[in-house]
Amino acid sequence: METYYAFAPRGFTSFFRAIPVWIKEKVFLKKIIREEFKKAGADTGVNIQIGEDIPLLFPEHHLSHAASAFYPSPFQRAAVVTVDGVGEWATASICRGEGKNLEKIKEIHFPHSLGLLYSAIT
Ligand SMILES: [Fe+2]
Repeated sequence: METYYAFAPRGFTSFFRAIPVWIKEKVFLKKIIREEFKKAGADTGVNIQIGEDIPLLFPEHHLSHAASAFYPSPFQRAAVVTVDGVGEWATASICRGEGKNLEKIKEIHFPHSLGLLYSAIT
């Protein structure tokens, strides 16, 4: 929304195309996730329902990337660098992993993004 606002009136077509998707998928994301788990449970016969009493957590985008690289790695200590388009506002991050801890040290924020530059070119 902030980006569309900053670049208005350019992007109105894209904005009006995106709004129904945001409303349908992003605003009701938790409800959709709970319904999909319920359907998957019904399909497989396994009870994997997520009730309203169980919170759904959404970890930071780049921290998730860093965790998926660091935790299965054989290293007890590591610098973890992530670079992609954009997640929340971060486009790149540096984390310090040590044992069970993963600490974000630095982030680069949108619009500065190697990933988006790559996307624009490709
Ligand atoms: Fe990503």
